[in-house]
Amino acid sequence: MKSLQYTAYGVRPVVADIPKPSPGPGEVLIRVSGAALNPLDVKIGAGQVHDYFPIAFPSVVGTDLAGTIERMGPGVAGRKVGDAVLARTDPASGGALAEYAVVPVSSLVAAPGAVPLPAAAGLATAAATAWQVVFEVADVQPGRTLLVHGGAGGVGGFVVQFARRAGARVVTTASSAGAALAGKLGAHEVIDYTTTDFRTIVPHVDVVVDPVGGATEAASLDVLGPGGLLIALNVPPNAERAAARGIRAEFLFHTSDADRLAKVAAAADEGLEIVVDRTVPLEDAAAAFDHLAQGHAKGKVIVRP
Ligand SMILES: NC(=O)c1ccc[n+]([C@@H]2O[C@H](COP(=O)([O-])OP(=O)(O)OC[C@H]3O[C@@H](n4cnc5c(N)ncnc54)[C@H](OP(=O)(O)O)[C@@H]3O)[C@@H](O)[C@H]2O)c1
Repeated sequence: MKSLQYTAYGVRPVVADIPKPSPGPGEVLIRVSGAALNPLDVKIGAGQVHDYFPIAFPSVVGTDLAGTIERMGPGVAGRKVGDAVLARTDPASGGALAEYAVVPVSSLVAAPGAVPLPAAAGLATAAATAWQVVFEVADVQPGRTLLVHGGAGGVGGFVVQFARRAGARVVTTASSAGAALAGKLGAHEVIDYTTTDFRTIVPHVDVVVDPVGGATEAASLDVLGPGGLLIALNVPPNAERAAARGIRAEFLFHTSDADRLAKVAAAADEGLEIVVDRTVPLEDAAAAFDHLAQGHAKGKVIVRP
């Protein structure tokens, strides 16, 4: 079968033929309809997260997949061949960007019926992370104001939608190319970060979700008062600097959870929008990987093996 493979750290992934895998006990073989790329895949390929997710080369890229069950391993119950499912694999194992993938049955959830199956792969990391941010860590309530940077990006677009649904006033930053999209997803206010310092528009918010870091993180502390919360996604925040101002700053480490993913899939059936930046065949997946690595995707990059 065809797959996109890491061959070494710092080397662009390549399309390669590898044997079709077989499901072991408790596992299923999925025929992959769509796989979504994430910045984590770029970081893994660069060796930046080796301490958390070490790779044994060669290794198939990707964690997020949607497809249909092709075959069941021994002892699998509760699913049947032909079921449309979603899964997020262990980042150290990857395996999503291939014609077939083997995953533990415990990681599967039913795919939402309301969205095309390939696009549903985009829920597995980005939307599940956004759910964790909004409903588990930020505990967003009606009347609170949440600022999320990058509201047209993969995670940011889902944070906008979930926070809006939770009743928050939602402010986001985006480049001019992403502003209309972020507004369409439900942001009350969109600030073009390339022309405007967001601090001049929103001097005070309750929660900041920061998938950027660096100068964006430092500026974000200025709009959070004592008791405010900064949730960092890209790099661990400077918790001491925040604490000195009475602000809680946390790095959120997304962990796969099938129960959470099932809630996210249900949200997609209830109208959660999966914005697709582009859909490409596996032959073009390395170029799509390069595009994502630029850091300006608008929604999810989907590969169709
Ligand atoms: N900690 C975790 O568990 C976890 C989980 C998921 C993701 N993440 C991390 O979160 C980050 C974002 O992930 P993603 O999937 O959303 O990436 P993505 O789909 O590539 O989106 C990135 C977005 O960031 C925006 N952006 C770039 N520079 C910006 C700036 N200075 N100010 C505001 N927005 C800016 C871009 O918007 P424009 O195109 O408009 O510039 C783009 O839409 C990545 O670093 C990823 O690794 C961490």
